[in-house]
Amino acid sequence: MSTFTIDTSTSRATPSPVPGKRMTAPSIRARKVPEGDGFKTEPPIVMLTAYTMRMAQLLDPHCDMLLVGDSLGQVIYGLPSTIPVTMEMMCAHGAAVVRGSWHALVAVDMPFGSYEASPEQAFASASRIMKETGCAAVKLEGGEAMAPTIAFLTRRGIPVIGHVGLTPQAVNILGGYGARGRGDEEAEKIRIDARMVDDAGAFCMVLEGVVDTLASEIARSIGCPIIGIGASADCDGQVLVTEDMLGLFERTPRFVKRYDDLAARIGEAARIYAEEVRSRSFPTAEQTYRPKS
Ligand code: KIV
Repeated sequence: MSTFTIDTSTSRATPSPVPGKRMTAPSIRARKVPEGDGFKTEPPIVMLTAYTMRMAQLLDPHCDMLLVGDSLGQVIYGLPSTIPVTMEMMCAHGAAVVRGSWHALVAVDMPFGSYEASPEQAFASASRIMKETGCAAVKLEGGEAMAPTIAFLTRRGIPVIGHVGLTPQAVNILGGYGARGRGDEEAEKIRIDARMVDDAGAFCMVLEGVVDTLASEIARSIGCPIIGIGASADCDGQVLVTEDMLGLFERTPRFVKRYDDLAARIGEAARIYAEEVRSRSFPTAEQTYRPKS
């Protein structure tokens, strides 16, 4: 496992030992290969969200991809949904994550309103994100309706991650964040969306909040890697919001496994610090400067 030191003049992480080349869109796409009458991906693709330089450093050695998700709206900015997230937010956090990583492919979410109007609008926004952050891919939500945009971007040198099933930027149309694909009609729409995003040239796609039988069928039948979140263990990889899996929030969605209980541990550390400040037992001689003798 790599360890990192920071060059304080540039804030650039210097891993030791220096890892090999970064993961690329073609290397992620090539992980999925034909097998029998379907496809398989070995080993599965590991993806987590990251919004800051330091979190990127910690996650990078373990991940194939880091996603600067627009979930930062809720997680970092306390917004009620991803709808108000701006290009400025995505560019600032995207650049920080690229500075903090060496190994993983960094993908940045295109925020709501920055790509839906036309392929040309999407190209202007995606190229700005890539120039300002140094990321290697963008992610955008939507199936059939976004397929021409995905094709437009990929033909112009922009690797795209699709996102179908539950698409949080469409919360006002969907009416909530519940699982998708329970009824036949909705399941068929998700199948068509996934196929069209793949045909349009996305190098992989996120499949969110989809019943597991449908997710498993899509993963087996679609050519590009399917990264599940609240989908199925049969997906070609998995992604979670890092703060969710670290237990930073009291409420955990059903599809999240908590690998730690950071909220409780941070609360306890802050409680002890406050107690020591109030009792003047912090700082001690160990944490104070003394005149030269
Ligand atoms: O915004 C985000 O973090 C995402 C993931 C949950 C897939 O889109």
